[in-house]
Amino acid sequence: MSEEILSVTDLTKRFGGFTALDAVNVSLSNRERLGLIGPNGSGKTTLINCISGALFNEQGSVRFKGQEITGLKASKRANLGIVRSFQIPRPFRSMSIIGNLLIPMEYAASDRGERGALRDQAMEFLELVGLQDRADENSSNLTQIDLRRLELARALSAKPSLLLSDESMAGLSSSEVDEILDILLALNERGVAVIMIEHIMRAVMKFSERIVVLDAGKIIADGSPDEIVANPDVERAYLGE
Ligand SMILES: Nc1ncnc2c1ncn2[C@@H]1O[C@H](COP(=O)(O)OP(=O)(O)O)[C@@H](O)[C@H]1O
Ligand SMILES: [Mg+2]
Repeated sequence: MSEEILSVTDLTKRFGGFTALDAVNVSLSNRERLGLIGPNGSGKTTLINCISGALFNEQGSVRFKGQEITGLKASKRANLGIVRSFQIPRPFRSMSIIGNLLIPMEYAASDRGERGALRDQAMEFLELVGLQDRADENSSNLTQIDLRRLELARALSAKPSLLLSDESMAGLSSSEVDEILDILLALNERGVAVIMIEHIMRAVMKFSERIVVLDAGKIIADGSPDEIVANPDVERAYLGE
């Protein structure tokens, strides 16, 4: 068993009187690929937000690489290696494709010497997502699939050890879904653990080594894709949708 990278313990998140997450426990090992599924409104995005720091949980703990991160700002968590890929990619539209990577990379770089090498690094990330030949094109011309590619390259440029991907395949064709899956697998091979939220069941099943199922803020199943498919509680949760 490889080392644990993330551990969420007894996490409860309320919005006013509504309990969106109820004593949730999830852990993730280094380089693991975890699928997070559940009916609409079951709390998937809320959980990702509590891990990334976009939301704060009032109860329970989130530990990352052995460090308690509950209460840390999202930017601090990003520095530690937690990066989120958004449902709707938002590039800097007036900028070139590579500029979208370089601006945040330059911002994060500590000295000029380091900055010299950044373009090469950015090109490497663009190559991984298949945008290397279009580095200097303006990003405002990008199609949906290319926007997803750019979003993943940007996520990579932050050098994450954990990528949180929330429905990054919505609206894509079946072959485009396969392209994004290949990119996520390549990223995972470089050592990045991934939590994937996805409605496209075929994609989650293909990608995940393990799947966690949320229903009404509670975890109702945690197992291999085969176990999840055969789990009657999971089927019941989805029937209500
Ligand atoms: N900022 C918020 N304020 C109030 N309720 C929220 C907020 N965010 C999410 N919720 C509620 O919490 C529940 C879980 O939402 P969410 O995590 O987005 O579900 P999922 O991603 O699984 O579809 C839903 O009932 C939703 O309406
Ligand atoms: Mg959601």
